[in-house]
Amino acid sequence: MFVHCINRESCVHLSGLILLFYLIFYLCLAGMFAFCLYVMLLMLSPYMPRFQDCVSTSLSLTKKSLSPSGVMIRPYLNGFTIAFNVSQPNTWQPYVDSMHHFLAGQYFIQGGNDSEEKKACQFKHLLLQNCSVIEDPMFDYSKGQPCILLKMNRIIGYRPGAGVPMSVDCKVQKGNESHLRLVDFYPGNETFDLMYYPYYGKFTHVNYTSPLVAMHFTDVQKNYLVPIQCHLNGKGIINDLNSDRFLGRIIFTLSIGK
Ligand SMILES: *[C@@H]1O[C@H](CO)[C@@H](O)[C@H](O)[C@H]1NC(C)=O
Ligand SMILES: *[C@@H]1O[C@H](CO)[C@@H](O)[C@H](O)[C@H]1NC(C)=O
Ligand SMILES: *[C@@H]1O[C@H](CO)[C@@H](O)[C@H](O)[C@H]1NC(C)=O
Ligand SMILES: *[C@@H]1O[C@H](CO)[C@@H](O)[C@H](O)[C@H]1NC(C)=O
Ligand SMILES: *[C@@H]1O[C@H](CO)[C@@H](O)[C@H](O)[C@H]1NC(C)=O
Ligand SMILES: *[C@@H]1O[C@H](CO)[C@@H](O)[C@H](O)[C@H]1NC(C)=O
Repeated sequence: MFVHCINRESCVHLSGLILLFYLIFYLCLAGMFAFCLYVMLLMLSPYMPRFQDCVSTSLSLTKKSLSPSGVMIRPYLNGFTIAFNVSQPNTWQPYVDSMHHFLAGQYFIQGGNDSEEKKACQFKHLLLQNCSVIEDPMFDYSKGQPCILLKMNRIIGYRPGAGVPMSVDCKVQKGNESHLRLVDFYPGNETFDLMYYPYYGKFTHVNYTSPLVAMHFTDVQKNYLVPIQCHLNGKGIINDLNSDRFLGRIIFTLSIGK
């Protein structure tokens, strides 16, 4: 390196200054690099809270989603037939136990009020109203009016319904349509509320509980096998594939005896 100096002493002095300059220069570079790395890691972190989307119902979403929207029912014991006799508690108790078991996993977290609920995006089972355990610990199986829960598969980042809440409806799949006279849905608007979507994964969404829709079969023909098909309806929801009975819909049979 060419250093212009008048005498030996000032030359040493100048070299020292230049060394100091480069030292500080490289330290700054290293610092900037470390900072960038830190910011990037922060953005990659699964813990980084991105709860903002939960607070709003994200109605502005326009992204078309074609992701599978698999659905499942609870209780689920041996298959998609729910058969019991009202007068024989041992025939419906397993279904009631299955409901308790499912809800006890997460949904009995009752603390907090509505404002907290949105923060954590937790579906509280009180929203199931007449199908909540508070209303009836037997979920009305003892009255021959079973509650059945509809649950969507958890898919990280999935925004179902392309920004419009999905609704649910049920009808007789094949056969006499008058065998299914009344189904009540809870929460009252028979929709999966978008504030619970998207799910960001178990690190970000500690204690996340998937939203549910409870179907209350209050007036089903007794002593008949009644095949029932429940559909999810919403933008981008596929619910009529013959090859997949669980995509956007579910088919099960109710058989309720006296
Ligand atoms: C309900 O009762 C009928 C007649 O008593 C019986 O045939 C049927 O197996 C019972 N159902 C169940 C699920 O036990
Ligand atoms: C809900 O919780 C917040 C904070 O915990 C509290 O300030 C607010 O008063 C509560 N609202 C009701 C209706 O209890
Ligand atoms: C819940 O059950 C009660 C009593 O059976 C009934 O009066 C009420 O209408 C039900 N609520 C809804 C939303 O159907
Ligand atoms: C359908 O069921 C009702 C009773 O729920 C009965 O009166 C009617 O005859 C049935 N219709 C057919 C086509 O089987
Ligand atoms: C559906 O009903 C629940 C409770 O009744 C309410 O909190 C929610 O905002 C409603 N959702 C829509 C999309 O109307
Ligand atoms: C998750 O639930 C557990 C048990 O109820 C509770 O101790 C914990 O604080 C909750 N975590 C969050 C982030 O809500």
